[in-house]
Amino acid sequence: MFLSEQFILITGASGRIGSSVALDVAKYGGIPIIADVDLLGLEKLKEQILKKYKVESFIVEGNITTQEGIENILKKSISFKGLIHGAVQCAYPRSKGWGTKFEYIKEDYLKEDLSNQLGSAILFSQQILEIFKKQGFGNLINISSIQGINAPKFEHYSGTEMISPIEYSAIKAGVISLTKWLAKYYFNNNIRINCISPGGILDKQPTSFLNKYRESCSNIGMLNSNEHISPVVIFLLSELSIAITGQNIIIDDGWSL
Ligand SMILES: NC(=O)c1ccc[n+]([C@@H]2O[C@H](COP(=O)([O-])OP(=O)(O)OC[C@H]3O[C@@H](n4cnc5c(N)ncnc54)[C@H](O)[C@@H]3O)[C@@H](O)[C@H]2O)c1
Repeated sequence: MFLSEQFILITGASGRIGSSVALDVAKYGGIPIIADVDLLGLEKLKEQILKKYKVESFIVEGNITTQEGIENILKKSISFKGLIHGAVQCAYPRSKGWGTKFEYIKEDYLKEDLSNQLGSAILFSQQILEIFKKQGFGNLINISSIQGINAPKFEHYSGTEMISPIEYSAIKAGVISLTKWLAKYYFNNNIRINCISPGGILDKQPTSFLNKYRESCSNIGMLNSNEHISPVVIFLLSELSIAITGQNIIIDDGWSL
């Protein structure tokens, strides 16, 4: 099995990508440590993992937006078996102002989102990578987006209420950048740090958007996290990708071409 007996911490595990990664970790032999602010979601996921794969996962209720919150998550995670082989940072905190049109962005919400998404990616890395360094091994996966590598295709959004926030693009470009910075900073510690940039995930978007989006892709269009995203995360967590570090793997069915 690709992740045999490996303890993998997944933050934002109650969410779309986090839950599918947690399920796949169990499917491929690992033991998921599932963390989120949403305890109910974690309890449901734990049951689902147990039922489907007969794997007992560990629940950590916690908040990744403060250094103290991150420290608590990591302390609890370590307390289960004394080590963490890998971590996948899927938590996605958003302010009340998230999704506001560019012209109307408010300073407070902007700062909150930059800090909670990009700042937390840095602060989470700071603590988990020191744990990996002490252990002598570790594997960190960050989640960026196609919006971090290209300008949005604004024409896809016309006639819908949807927007692609400017701060999302900036945060996601930052996540790719910090992945490279950290991978190099931690050279020679038996630690790998990579990033994935998924395309859009199917989630009740308006048909007009879906049709336009499909035209910019090769075979699939909008993605499904179980089928298209989490298998790539498993690959990056496993020894199959042993020579890959500091990379951003784009999973977008050709959207960015
Ligand atoms: N959904 C997409 O189309 C898509 C596409 C590309 C990239 N991504 C990226 O994937 C990541 C996950 O997205 P998703 O679609 O799974 O989001 P989601 O909203 O489904 O899940 C996010 C999870 O994070 C948890 N969370 C929020 N604030 C938290 C906090 N302070 N501490 C701990 N947990 C917290 C939520 O409770 C939720 O369970 C994000 O970085 C997102 O930008 C998503």
